[in-house]
Amino acid sequence: MAPLLHITEQDLSFYNTLGLRSQARAFLRLHSTRNLQDLSETAARYPGVVILGGGSNVVLAPRLDELVVHVATRGVALVDDDADSVLVEAQAGESWHNFVELCVERGWHGLENLALIPGTCGAAPVQNIGAYGVEQSDFFHSLVAWDMRRSMQVEMGPGDCLFAYRDSFFKRAEQGRWVILAVRYRFPREWTPKLGYPDLARHPALALAGPGVTPRDVFNAVCDIRRAKLPDPAELANAGSFFKNPVVNARTFRKLRDLHPGLVAYPVDDGSHYKLAAGWLIERAGWKGRRLGPVGMHERQALVMVNHGGASARDIQVLADVIRAEVATRFGVHLEQEPVALGSMAGEAG
Ligand code: EPU
Repeated sequence: MAPLLHITEQDLSFYNTLGLRSQARAFLRLHSTRNLQDLSETAARYPGVVILGGGSNVVLAPRLDELVVHVATRGVALVDDDADSVLVEAQAGESWHNFVELCVERGWHGLENLALIPGTCGAAPVQNIGAYGVEQSDFFHSLVAWDMRRSMQVEMGPGDCLFAYRDSFFKRAEQGRWVILAVRYRFPREWTPKLGYPDLARHPALALAGPGVTPRDVFNAVCDIRRAKLPDPAELANAGSFFKNPVVNARTFRKLRDLHPGLVAYPVDDGSHYKLAAGWLIERAGWKGRRLGPVGMHERQALVMVNHGGASARDIQVLADVIRAEVATRFGVHLEQEPVALGSMAGEAG
């Protein structure tokens, strides 16, 4: 049997950074893109398909009846090179952080602000990962995807992907339809450091480097900041920010700021809207470092939900609902969950 079609039951505990116990009825590791036609045909035998990359932005139900496809293809290549820019392609299963580090080493600059983000390259466009003033869409060129419905390979540009803050076409598309196979980024040869984000602007090593700052300096500083603030999923299970930073119109922002003068917010869309720091709202609601059962909000970053051990998707959902309700009551603001819930919770004991 071709390795592509090797389907097994699989404990997914180590395939999701929240460390939730989850069992896949049918699991397949995609090592190659040679046999995608068979993948579509095989998938038709299951009630649905779940595409899993690094599992760093998912809340997995205890049991998945869908066909779980773990994308594990590897490789990074320079595909085009001219006087002004380089075009680089990463296979979907590559670790995002390793890709960013490789780019820094090879002199392909732009993504260094996105160092240490857990997950794979194929997942990066799905939620349009972003940090410290940069989003992957700033350098995105195109991607190659397999359309499970039509059994054909397609190429998609930025216009097809509908990137927005923590959002893309893929977040709203039919689940399991699109298997992202490779992503391409274009990096200008001339590098402009993006140091405006407050944590970067005040980082001592960058202040010291001044105008001589290098991409490696930025990469190191971002790693430093993240390590100081965010829990390493290998040590304390988590899926990064659990909620998006909510965007409100300027009038709502002004009303809120009058009531809560310390409110942390950043203008967006030329000041017609404001992005509120959800971590601040959650902290003020009293949840920073607080637990409910086996889960809680992190002690240094209240936006990050952590699993202290043995949590299920149900525990995650209970705390998420409590926080959403308390933030809504206190501030009148609705928090939207960021990680994608996969698998049915139906029939689960409470
Ligand atoms: N804040 C608090 N209390 C907290 C956390 C934050 O008051 O517990 C306030 C502080 O004023 C802080 C501000 O909120 O200065 C912003 O916090 P931070 O710089 O940590 O950024 P964030 O808005 O909470 C977002 C992303 C992160 C990304 C950082 C840096 C979202 C949902 N999250 O967090 O992404 O690393 O900015 O750019 O947009 C992730 O998605 O997993 C993630 C970590």
